[in-house]
Amino acid sequence: MTAPTADVSIVVPTFNEADNINELLGRIAAALPPETRAEVVFADDSTDRTCEVIEEAAASCPIPVVLHHRPVPAGGLGGAVVEGIARASAPWIVVIDADLQHPPELIPALIARGETSGAELVVASRYAAGGDRSGLDGGYRKLVSSMSTLVTKSLFPRALSGLSDPMSGFFAIRRTAVDRAATEDEGLQPLGYKILLELAVRCRPRGIAEVPYAFGERHAGESKSTAREGMRFLRHLITLRTADARARAVVFGLIGLSGFVPNLALLWVLTTTAPGLHYAPAEIIANQAGLLWNFALIDSFVYRNQRRHHRRSVRLLTFAAVGNADLVARIPLAALLIGTADMAPLPATALSMAIVFMARFLVVDRWLYRRLRKQETTATPQLAPDPVPDPVPDPVPDPLG
Ligand code: GDD
Ligand code: MN
Repeated sequence: MTAPTADVSIVVPTFNEADNINELLGRIAAALPPETRAEVVFADDSTDRTCEVIEEAAASCPIPVVLHHRPVPAGGLGGAVVEGIARASAPWIVVIDADLQHPPELIPALIARGETSGAELVVASRYAAGGDRSGLDGGYRKLVSSMSTLVTKSLFPRALSGLSDPMSGFFAIRRTAVDRAATEDEGLQPLGYKILLELAVRCRPRGIAEVPYAFGERHAGESKSTAREGMRFLRHLITLRTADARARAVVFGLIGLSGFVPNLALLWVLTTTAPGLHYAPAEIIANQAGLLWNFALIDSFVYRNQRRHHRRSVRLLTFAAVGNADLVARIPLAALLIGTADMAPLPATALSMAIVFMARFLVVDRWLYRRLRKQETTATPQLAPDPVPDPVPDPVPDPLG
């Protein structure tokens, strides 16, 4: 390893920010003390003139500028930040938006706070005492922002303790913390806007500090955050929350329970409407509706990043086969427990249900959607393929922020 050439790498994700580049670089250069060795790394997905503007501005900027333009915007904003981080050379990495809603003047304070406290992560927070989020337009956006912060924090009470603003897009993180995630089973798999959430949960930074700030108004251009980002955020939350097998088993069970709704609804339709099917065939058909429902949820939310092993038709058929085998296996298994282990019918039935549920979960989790082993992952952060590759802004403003 060569010694780093910079003390601070400032990673800026950009998507069509041409009119903000000069102002941003000017303010960053003015904010940093002259002795700070810094570099700015742009992680760009723009389709406008942003790249040209960056190249022009770089020529006269006192700080070295690295431009990484991505032909394919995998993972959206979060994916861009991870690729920018991979190209950053300094032991401290600052992530900041390009539109000046995050004041560059705060960068030295973030680093200083990290140095004096020893924290690996320092977050610029709108919610810490002294912070301000008046730049979030509208009471509706403010409300949804506080609600989603609350839900997120209760889903990850340990990883996010000490973080009042886990949705912040402005923070400083030590390289050592980021590198820790690369050695984890799944690496980093950011999805959309909430890159800090991804880093805080997957890197488990040792020590978190906060510096309050006022989230300002955009300098120029318009926000790229959209209603679609809201959906991405939900998927991101589920992916993160189900990174360990125990949590996955719980979610698997809850989704299984929810499948009773379509199952019973179809059973009711089939048995009550003329000509009225007999219960047994009706229940067999209704069970398929429940399985289809379960498959849709499990395949698109829980195992979104584990679908590469099999085609969708194979996944669906295997899932349905395992689900139907479950029905067939349960009664003989309970009978066996009653006959040979001398169990009473009720505990035998409960135990057979538990065994069959676990068997079903293991087939699905360990085989159908198996995870990558450590040696299969590369050292560079893994980017999951994003089913929504094109971040074309929707007209509806994103409530999460
Ligand atoms: N490379 C890349 N790719 N950059 C993107 C993309 C993308 O798909 N989408 C947005 N960006 C860039 C924008 O160009 C901008 O520099 C930054 O990411 C934030 O995008 P905005 O559209 O301005 O988002 P916002 O103001 O609604 O929300 C921001 O601030 C919140 C509060 O700190 C984001 O940083 C949120 O994550 C953050 O919660
Ligand atoms: Mn913004």
